[in-house]
Amino acid sequence: MELGDRLTAAAAALAEATGVDRHDVAVVLGSGLGDFARRLDDRVSVPYSDLPGFPTPTVAGHSGVAHSVRLGERRVLVLEGRIHAYEGLGLDPVVFPVRTAVTAGCSVVVLTNAAGGCRDDLRPGDLVVVRDHLSFAGMNPLVGPNDDRLGPRFPDLTDLYDPGLRRLFAETARRHGIEISEGVYAWFLGPSYETPAEVRMAIALGADLVGMSTVPEAIAARHLGARVLAVSLVTNRAAGLAGHPLTHQEVADTARRAADRVATVLGAFLAEL
Ligand code: HPA
Repeated sequence: MELGDRLTAAAAALAEATGVDRHDVAVVLGSGLGDFARRLDDRVSVPYSDLPGFPTPTVAGHSGVAHSVRLGERRVLVLEGRIHAYEGLGLDPVVFPVRTAVTAGCSVVVLTNAAGGCRDDLRPGDLVVVRDHLSFAGMNPLVGPNDDRLGPRFPDLTDLYDPGLRRLFAETARRHGIEISEGVYAWFLGPSYETPAEVRMAIALGADLVGMSTVPEAIAARHLGARVLAVSLVTNRAAGLAGHPLTHQEVADTARRAADRVATVLGAFLAEL
């Protein structure tokens, strides 16, 4: 089946399962941030396995559920259960949930992630709004035939991370007493963490954050015309900067400790959109 038809089928199944014809905003929850979904009252939750074309996540901490909630006037689709490129399934399953969300009406896509901080002032627990990215993964979700009805063959990425959404998110965070900066996110394929030399390379090229997600979803969502915001939670200092080896446990623990703060700002931001 062609991509457009697969997306239409998935969006129709989502509408049927949630009882909601159109969603307005999509939020993708990063590693350890799944807690956000559990705080939402009156959510309708649909397992990915009930949605045609949706992948089944394999990483611990990513459960594979779409939650539909109303926040003020907005219908928000919270996607819990990201597929990563390092799972080896190609990028189609990585971006399919976000593409479905845009097909289902979402004109704003908010991507969250856990990332290593490479700028000197960044500490575990800090939130950073992504201003731009570097891709070291050698992959792009738009490789392959392009359906011009869905989006352009050669999309411009100058303002991939929407300036207005970035400003609004930062203002909302500051109003809640949370200092927030902007940074450049460098996408590495993983699943091994970067080497210290790779981190030094990324820093030399302008990176503030390193991580294994977000970039393919951002490109795919923009291609379909959505406005994109990406927010990183710094869970650790990047490899070679911390003075100790990285572990997934450290990443997960920091994310859990920051979950309250992330949920507060994210909730307030969505209410202000
Ligand atoms: N590198 C890549 N991905 C990550 C990191 C990191 O240091 N921390 C959390 N996700």
